[in-house]
Amino acid sequence: MQKAYVHSSFGGPEVEHFADLPVPVPGPGQLLVAVRAAGVNPVDWKRRSGRRPAGAPAVVLPAVMGGEAAGEVAAVGPGVTGFAVGDAVLGGPFAGGYAEYTLLAAAAAVRKPPEVSWTDAAVLPIAAATGYGAVRQLALPPGATLLITGVGGGVGVAAAQVAVHLGLSVVGSCAEDKRGAVEALGVAHVASGPGLAARVRAAAPAGIDGVLDLVGGDVLHEVAGLPAGPGRLVSGADREAVRALGGAPVGPVRDPELLGAVVELVRTGALDPMVTRVVPFARAAEAVRAVEGGHTLGKVVLEMPPAPDARVPEIPPVSG
Ligand SMILES: NC(=O)c1ccc[n+]([C@@H]2O[C@H](COP(=O)([O-])OP(=O)(O)OC[C@H]3O[C@@H](n4cnc5c(N)ncnc54)[C@H](OP(=O)(O)O)[C@@H]3O)[C@@H](O)[C@H]2O)c1
Repeated sequence: MQKAYVHSSFGGPEVEHFADLPVPVPGPGQLLVAVRAAGVNPVDWKRRSGRRPAGAPAVVLPAVMGGEAAGEVAAVGPGVTGFAVGDAVLGGPFAGGYAEYTLLAAAAAVRKPPEVSWTDAAVLPIAAATGYGAVRQLALPPGATLLITGVGGGVGVAAAQVAVHLGLSVVGSCAEDKRGAVEALGVAHVASGPGLAARVRAAAPAGIDGVLDLVGGDVLHEVAGLPAGPGRLVSGADREAVRALGGAPVGPVRDPELLGAVVELVRTGALDPMVTRVVPFARAAEAVRAVEGGHTLGKVVLEMPPAPDARVPEIPPVSG
């Protein structure tokens, strides 16, 4: 058995709890991973509350929370090539990341280089990959100006660094307490709140060429008209509203090539996923509450007890 942090129905924080669950058995093409760290994202509590995108598969309860993790391969399923027990990997597990063990599709797993820490690696598959993918989606030329709303969050800090790395000028909105942190990334800070569009125009008198919205709602509506031209507005926060405003949701990021490119940026020091809070797994609720509050700087990550050797699972033999 293993410890996992699950939600046993849909609702508020009260439906979250630890559970003893069987260690999953890797099926064809799957890796069993001893989790070392698991990223915490807004989508985790949104799923717990029952929200899911149209067309998404039904959630089986109890559901292990968490959509990204890094760890060591503990067993390989039938037909897996290219990975072996002990390999350090990261990716978006389909069995939930807030657990001692999870399952990753081998085809979607990426190797963790030794230079990248477990806690940094665990936060790359969702937030950093989304930031990277969104900047690539906008495809602005070097020298163009990109506005990022909610720039101080997990996706925003990654997107800002990728954009600066590609030669874009970045204007970003966030709360005053994050100003120093985002300015250190090369972002021209504007305060969030009513009147945002006017402050952005003042900060970028030559105009805004593209917008990456990470807040949605009124903020998205206020900045939607800033970029000139089609294809220059994307949102990670509000899929329906951004379409109605003539833009597009940020694209899917479950792409190992894209994730591999993000890992390489981190390995070479071009991208810091900005983990600002490492929370022991035993205090998972605290980590989810912080992210659910909606105003964290950078990333929150769960750290599993070290020494996975001390918790080798009883894995039934895998045939084939
Ligand atoms: N594939 C995808 O489509 C995808 C992937 C990842 C994330 N997302 C979505 O993208 C959004 C951002 O994700 P994230 O991981 O960066 O979240 P996050 O780390 O929680 O950051 C969100 C930021 O939004 C700001 N914010 C919150 N409420 C606000 C408000 N009312 N007005 C202005 N700013 C506000 C906060 O900054 P301040 O404290 O500065 O206000 C916070 O730093 C979320 O909606 C998430 O679900 C989508």
